[in-house]
Amino acid sequence: MTTRPTELRRPRTVRSESYPYPEIAGAAPERAIWAGVAKRSRTAQGVLAERALLTEMGVLSDPVARKMVAPPWAAFMWFMRHWPFPTKPGSVTRAGLAARVSWYDAQVQRAIETGVQQIAVIGAGYDSRAWRFASSGVQFYELDLGITQRDKRRRAPAGGPTFVEADLWTQSAAPALRDGGLDRSRAALFILEGLTMYLTEDVVRRQLGDLAESSASKSLIAVDFSPPPEVGTAQDRRRMRLRAPAAAKSSSCSSTVGERQRSSRPRVGW
Ligand SMILES: C[S@@+](CC[C@H](N)C(=O)[O-])C[C@H]1O[C@@H](n2cnc3c(N)ncnc32)[C@H](O)[C@@H]1O
Repeated sequence: MTTRPTELRRPRTVRSESYPYPEIAGAAPERAIWAGVAKRSRTAQGVLAERALLTEMGVLSDPVARKMVAPPWAAFMWFMRHWPFPTKPGSVTRAGLAARVSWYDAQVQRAIETGVQQIAVIGAGYDSRAWRFASSGVQFYELDLGITQRDKRRRAPAGGPTFVEADLWTQSAAPALRDGGLDRSRAALFILEGLTMYLTEDVVRRQLGDLAESSASKSLIAVDFSPPPEVGTAQDRRRMRLRAPAAAKSSSCSSTVGERQRSSRPRVGW
């Protein structure tokens, strides 16, 4: 993996209003919980702090992460490193997250090496790949809720992706990305890291289907899902139960990468 200097240009934000999913509008649990108190994504900052921590521990190499960590999460990092015992990188959750990040990094690296020049990170949070994998001719897009993107843009280094604001509960990612400049006639890699567990199966299927339908052949998707409750060791299952209702936020997951298909798996098209 290479870290390249960033091309200095102002990031762009595109707001997309198109292709609403009206029948599920208003069903978003996160939005309902925070009605009237819009906040940046807590889970995205949490994952960011973990990446920064794993970088300090020498497990990951994400020098951009620390720059975007908000003060409360910087305090969390300090706590994890110092008191009462320094945390170890080998905890199941932390090691799982490190594996997840490395796996997605490898997908991005491979896609770029094979000539894919459009990378769309959906539910991007504080993803740093637009900076870490910046390459000539490669355009990154990041889609997320506006509140998180605005916070990210205040913290992130110059350059980076084209920001596309959309709410996946009510909008389809495919046309939103197209409105943001993604060229549907050229292959793209779509990344959905740590996202599907915040949406219903119905929404995930529709988003994956729309992306398949409106993307060029040779496009790729990389996505992970929370494991079903019956898998893993007894200790894993106990830990998942204890963490409920936060279990859905688990970073242990099964990941999959697919290429756009015309006929097989027609329900979602990948
Ligand atoms: C756990 S974070 C993962 C962030 C990033 N992919 C990572 O792995 O570091 C989940 C992300 O999904 C985004 N997200 C959740 N619901 C969303 C929605 N309805 N529309 C757009 N983004 C959403 C959150 O704002 C958050 O940034």
